[in-house]
Amino acid sequence: MPRTAQAAEMPSFGTLDREAGNLSRQVAEALREAVRKGDLRPADALPSTRALAASLQVARGTVVEAYEQLIAEGFLESKAGAGTRVALALAEPPPAREPRVTSSQAAQAGLPERAEAFARIGREFKPLPPVPFAISVPTGMTAPDDIWRRLGNRLRARGPASPTGYADPQGALALREAIADYVRKSRSVRCEADQVIVTSGTQQGLFLASEVLLGPRDQAWVENPAYRGVTAILESLPHRDAMVRVPVDAEGLDVEAGIRLAPKARAAFVTPSHQYPLGMPLSMARRAALLAWARSAHAWVVEDDYDSELRYEGYPFPALQGLAPDRVVYLGTFSKILFPSLRLGYVVVPPNLVDAFCGARVLMDRHPPTADQHVLAAFMTEGHLERHVRKVRNVYAEQRLGLIETLEALLPRELAWIEPGDQGMHLVLWLAARLDDRQIVQLAADEGIAVRAASPMFAAGTARPGLILGFGGFSSAQMKEAARRLAAVIAAAAK
Ligand SMILES: Cc1ncc(COP(=O)(O)O)c(C=O)c1O
Repeated sequence: MPRTAQAAEMPSFGTLDREAGNLSRQVAEALREAVRKGDLRPADALPSTRALAASLQVARGTVVEAYEQLIAEGFLESKAGAGTRVALALAEPPPAREPRVTSSQAAQAGLPERAEAFARIGREFKPLPPVPFAISVPTGMTAPDDIWRRLGNRLRARGPASPTGYADPQGALALREAIADYVRKSRSVRCEADQVIVTSGTQQGLFLASEVLLGPRDQAWVENPAYRGVTAILESLPHRDAMVRVPVDAEGLDVEAGIRLAPKARAAFVTPSHQYPLGMPLSMARRAALLAWARSAHAWVVEDDYDSELRYEGYPFPALQGLAPDRVVYLGTFSKILFPSLRLGYVVVPPNLVDAFCGARVLMDRHPPTADQHVLAAFMTEGHLERHVRKVRNVYAEQRLGLIETLEALLPRELAWIEPGDQGMHLVLWLAARLDDRQIVQLAADEGIAVRAASPMFAAGTARPGLILGFGGFSSAQMKEAARRLAAVIAAAAK
């Protein structure tokens, strides 16, 4: 049961400084502080504005204004008939700072080196709390609407989503057919349903690809910078030189550099539609060069197509897979366009790789949970996904412009500037070279802001400080307020 907070129960409230003026800002700050200290917890009910005003001996309007500000920031939520409460979304634990185990603990336990890599990865990969600027938070306009819930209820009660025995490791046929149809139409991927393997997100697709495609001495190209989810996989392989970092420039992956560095690599992991995290697409000339190399080297191209639905100017680039379906392993996900906790994605592989991918999949977790696969299949075949993508694209386009405008107004260019781009659900905010992005991430977390540092995405010795800011899921008011606090954090760190 949520507790009802009384002003007197909140020691952090202290006394208001009537001389300092702006009492409603002081009330808001005192409430924020109470949440930060844990005096008020997520879902706790706040006193009525009348009661709090009486207890603080201020005008009721002062408290009303403070509550409204905190609702706009996402600290509080208010429902008709249920009063005002501390937002439930704040319940997610903040990113843990204390390591759970140290690498020497893994060594002491007599575990192989790979276990140390896993321990490091485990410490690094913590979800961000659902506050600005966490990426892909399905709230408000970007959350799937009631249809998702209704379909789920119906199919779970009577349909194919009700409990069953073991199922096909490749994934439910209905979903594979819906995915094949979707990627053929929207991404020009050339495939049939029997080439689709349903995964629990792209992360599993990347792991499967490394397990299946790379032998014990093989090397793989990876973009520099790149998504930590892929570089961490390659770092964890027993072969120390497995990962070859290939620079990217304005046209995307520098294929000639890759050939110079590792001409015989077995695979190239790339984000051709929207380089992660920088955002540029791979140019046509580079696409042709990459595929020509892959053919001559008998290498595989692993195409991570994580958010290509979200292009705001013009149409999304067609997938690389369509140009070479026999050489490309194509990875897609519903994390960005629906929601990450769904944990559903897919791999599209050439027909001769299907058995190996399915076998590796069986050993990992046998098959994806069946119920949500059927709900998603129905959501797609009934046309809801397409509508949802259109809606989300509009919301994100607007949010993106709003955030750029806000940040540009708040941040002097010599301290921070935005990487241009017209796609996706995140921005890169580069920081002046003297700033430490990891430190800013921690300071921002203390201010209730969730950002990721760009520097860990680079190979050692090439890092640039920057922040990755997601702009989905939050209202303009929440993002404005968070941007203001982030700008203050950056300015303070620069002093
Ligand atoms: C470039 C890239 N690839 C893959 C993923 C993993 O997504 P999923 O949730 O499908 O595992 C992400 C998620 O942020 C990403 O940014």
